[in-house]
Formats: sequence, structure tokens, C-alpha cells
Amino acid sequence: MPADGLRIAVCPGSYDPVTLGHLDIIARAAELFDRVVVGVVKQPVRKQATLFSAEERAGFIRAEIGKLRNVQVKPFDTLLVDFAREHGAKAIVKGLRAISDFEYEFEMNQLNRKMAPDIESIYMMSSPHFSFLSSSGVKELAMFGGDLSDLVPPAVALRLQEALKP
Ligand code: PNS
Repeated sequence: MPADGLRIAVCPGSYDPVTLGHLDIIARAAELFDRVVVGVVKQPVRKQATLFSAEERAGFIRAEIGKLRNVQVKPFDTLLVDFAREHGAKAIVKGLRAISDFEYEFEMNQLNRKMAPDIESIYMMSSPHFSFLSSSGVKELAMFGGDLSDLVPPAVALRLQEALKP
């Protein structure tokens, strides 16, 4: 626990863009921890170039977390464990939707644990109504003019429609 006794977690991700599933995990983490730092990776190494800039992705999240007083959003371009340390976080919180997420998360967990055994990774099962929801799925829907309500915040839906209109 940091010297000031606060329990701090980071919720890292690409958030390209944030979905209601991500926001659900962030809100649940905010109930469990004194402070949550949402880390928006500037350039995910294992994925294609992002559709939105890190600042825009962070802005989408900031616009939605108004009521969560203990959550802040920060872009980062370092190792996740260094970002966590920089913020005094002892936990990394991520959502897990299905078995298909497990292998990737397990590998990340092992690498992070090797570098920083003092930081615990915690996985929250996604809420059932978001268990199918992904940023890439949402982008695909947007490309074909699909309905994005109930999947992303309205402002994000608008930007997706602008950016990817069919
Ligand atoms: O939403 P995502 O794409 O699953 O999030 C990926 C993220 C941000 C957790 C991952 O890309 C990350 O941690 N990036 C920072 C570099 C790092 O520390 N990688 C893990 C160990 S090599």
C-alpha cells in the first residue's frame, strides 16, 4: 500500500474507442479502489495503428466518467508496470469477456508479473450484456452503417460514424 494508504489501480487499454463494456469495468473498479487511473496506451504494439489519437481516445473516456470522482484518465507510452508504479498502483484491472481473451491476457499477466511481482493483475468478468462487445467489432459495425446504440456512448458513435462512414 502506498504511504498515503490509498489503494490505487490502473485500468489499461487501447480504448480505440471506449465501449460501454470498458466503462462498466472502469466503474466497477472505481467501487473497489480508492483511485483508478485509466491508462490509454498511445500506440499498442500488437495491434494495427489506432483509428483515433490517444488524446481523442482519452477524451472519449473523460467525457463519460464525470460522476466517478476517483477516476482519472492518462495516455501513456511506457511499460504498463512502469506506468502503474508511477501512479502508486498495486493492481492492474482488466475485463475478461470470453475464453478467447484468456490466452492473450495470461501471457500479458506473466510478462507483467515477471517484471513487477509486487503488482497484481486482477481480471473482472464482463457483465453478460457486454460479453460480446469489442472495439474492433464496433468499428466493423460502423463501417457498414450498423446501429451503435447500446454499444458505445452517443458521442463516440457520432465520431465513429464520421470516421468510418460507408
Ligand atoms: O486494450 P488492449 O489492447 O488489450 O490493451 C493493451 C495494453 C495497453 C494493456 C498493452 O498494450 C500494454 O500493456 N502496453 C504497454 C506495454 C507493455 O507493458 N506491454 C506488456 C508487457 S511486454
